[in-house]
Amino acid sequence: MKIADFPRRQVLASAVAAAAIAVLPFTAAAAPIVVKFSHVVADKTPKGQAALKFKELAEKKLPGKVEVQVFPSSQLFGDAKEMEALLLGDVQLIAPSLSKFDRYTKKLQVFDLPFLFDDVEAVDRFQSSKPGQDLLTSMKNRGLVGLAYWHNGMKQLSTNKDKLQRPEDVKGLKFRIQASDVLEAQFRALDANPQKMAFSEVYQALQTGVVDGQENTWSNIYSQKFFEVQKTIAETNHGIIDYMVVTNAKWWDGLPADVRQGLAEAMKEATAFGNKLAFDLNEGDKKKIMDAGKAKIQKLAKEDTAAWRKSMEPVWKKFEGDIGRDLIDAALKSNN
Ligand code: LMR
Repeated sequence: MKIADFPRRQVLASAVAAAAIAVLPFTAAAAPIVVKFSHVVADKTPKGQAALKFKELAEKKLPGKVEVQVFPSSQLFGDAKEMEALLLGDVQLIAPSLSKFDRYTKKLQVFDLPFLFDDVEAVDRFQSSKPGQDLLTSMKNRGLVGLAYWHNGMKQLSTNKDKLQRPEDVKGLKFRIQASDVLEAQFRALDANPQKMAFSEVYQALQTGVVDGQENTWSNIYSQKFFEVQKTIAETNHGIIDYMVVTNAKWWDGLPADVRQGLAEAMKEATAFGNKLAFDLNEGDKKKIMDAGKAKIQKLAKEDTAAWRKSMEPVWKKFEGDIGRDLIDAALKSNN
């Protein structure tokens, strides 16, 4: 039978079907998996740079297979919404600070205990240890899987007052804190008033006097311009801000094996890149803040630091039960 013998409609239908069959496999292979990565800080920060590096590496390793879209500065989702968005599948990667997982596990509170880690090298040793690595999968039953730890750095304290040398200097002051019960207890131990607040709201809260002060790394204090609306920054190094890059466990497990492996490799390399950069970036931003001459940087004598440490000590006891003594000891061991 010649094609001309078919009724016209049937010829058309078979032609459309044939075209669809020809196009389908091509379309399926060509559509990249979109990986949305949302975070709250600026691009020129340790986390911002590591996220961009991850995009570059992932797209290079998996050409045409993935497209990573990075949304910095709370553009897509801020603190309050990003975990929810991850669990709902609206984004695939986020990297909240370790202080923001209270609702999902109490174990990560170990990272918030004041004066626990001597420096970021100690934090790194703990994160690389078996107990540290185990924490990455500690929220799997809540649908979250940690892919990596990313460094930012040590926290400094800042206020809108002229003096910030001893714990007495913050008595009665209002401080913005991240959503962490440990940090809340830390400021209560200082007789100050903590207020949980999303990162994107801090600048305005400082500027308008809704709060008097905050604690953060040099890179966040610089990139968010907190130093322009604070009078004094004390170099307390009393805690850390580091991150866990987390993904939706179901999404991750459902990825094609080669894509999952490529993304895992890109994550490993981006982590090494960002973690190497973090210290210098913070030091550079500290210098820029000093050069700007807007906020005074208060150096502390050994006795001053000892006084801050002593005032915050009760916090440890309060959270020991939730965190577990073993985990605290493992973290302490990393200081050696
Ligand atoms: C903060 O809320 O102060 C920080 O966790 C922001 C960040 O992601 O570094």
